[in-house]
Amino acid sequence: MVEVLVTGGAGFIGSNFVEFALAAHPDWRITTLDKLTYAGRLENLREVMDHPRHRFVRGDVADAAVARPLVAAAEVVVHFAAETHVDRAIQDAGAFIRTDVYGTFVLLAAAREAPGLRRFLQISTDEVYGSVAAGASTETDELRPRNPYAASKAGADRLAFSYWATHGVPVVIARASNNYGPRQFPEKMIPLFVSNALDNLPLPLYGDGRQSRDWLHVTDHCRALDLLLERGRPGETYNVGGGSELENVALTRLILDLLDRPASLLRHVPDRPGHDRRYRLDTAKLRALGWTPQIEFGPGLRAVVEWYRDNEWWWRPIKEADPAFRAYYEQQYGNVL
Ligand code: NAD
Ligand code: TYD
Repeated sequence: MVEVLVTGGAGFIGSNFVEFALAAHPDWRITTLDKLTYAGRLENLREVMDHPRHRFVRGDVADAAVARPLVAAAEVVVHFAAETHVDRAIQDAGAFIRTDVYGTFVLLAAAREAPGLRRFLQISTDEVYGSVAAGASTETDELRPRNPYAASKAGADRLAFSYWATHGVPVVIARASNNYGPRQFPEKMIPLFVSNALDNLPLPLYGDGRQSRDWLHVTDHCRALDLLLERGRPGETYNVGGGSELENVALTRLILDLLDRPASLLRHVPDRPGHDRRYRLDTAKLRALGWTPQIEFGPGLRAVVEWYRDNEWWWRPIKEADPAFRAYYEQQYGNVL
């Protein structure tokens, strides 16, 4: 059995990865370590909770007493755990520094001592490059993160690299573009806009809405990570981009069309401070290993919109009954919607 530690596995991408990996690798035994912050939810692991090759541990990656023995027992670490929402980082970045930077340090320090560790896959993001006016970011481009979330992820990304360069920890770094898929927390654009549209609530589009993102289906991301665990070289960084670039305003209209909702639900609201105008990844390095995205954005978005329509049980309690979410929504949108 291959012992795999997945941090942040109760979140959006982590839970999709745990499901994907258990199905793809009959010889993997997965431990999910997750603090269950507001974004981490046990129902995300519903399908695998009783799986004989999966166990869940509630704990903080920044707590060495919890993290060290788990890393020591692992052959593979896939490190998703992070605070992830840009707008929350703008409100208050403290938790981002603590989890994304210090938490990554705790895991890397443990990885340095782990006797059988073969791979430490650091889940980074295209946001570390900052806004790209034209062309596409390649892995050797300068990092120019422009918001506190992106800066904390850039810190973690380079810290992971330094533990390879300095201590020989077998770190591979994956920088993915914006993911979409089932179980994404409804503070992020696509699930927020889809669930608001379903309820005939306004869709708060920041600024002129002409910012663009490079959308990647979460399953294509999982496939890429799986390939990188097999073929990625320690010390190397790989971009994982969907190649489906779309302006936010066009995406908003697509969502409204798919749900047969009026264009009047689109509401321009003041822009996000430091809002990156455009992300776009060059993925030649990953494609050379044999990966290409398999889910086209059109059908992928349609399926995901259907998932949120058919799974209100998943998002409605968060949006309507979770006081922390209500407080966040009020603070973020109360004055503008
Ligand atoms: P998410 O917010 O849905 O999930 C994050 C998970 O980490 C949650 O389950 C949360 O409980 C857990 N967590 C947070 N702090 C923790 C701590 N201190 N200890 C243990 N667990 C903790 O995020 P996501 O969208 O699934 O993102 C996962 C990773 O992928 C992150 O590292 C993120 O930076 C990266 N990423 C995300 C995207 C995207 O579009 N969502 C794109 C590129 C990279
Ligand atoms: P988001 O899902 O927060 O991801 P990221 O900031 O990591 O790219 O946002 C995606 C895009 O949608 C981004 O350009 C910001 C924009 N956006 C809005 O216009 N309104 C919103 O309410 C949110 C949450 C995002």
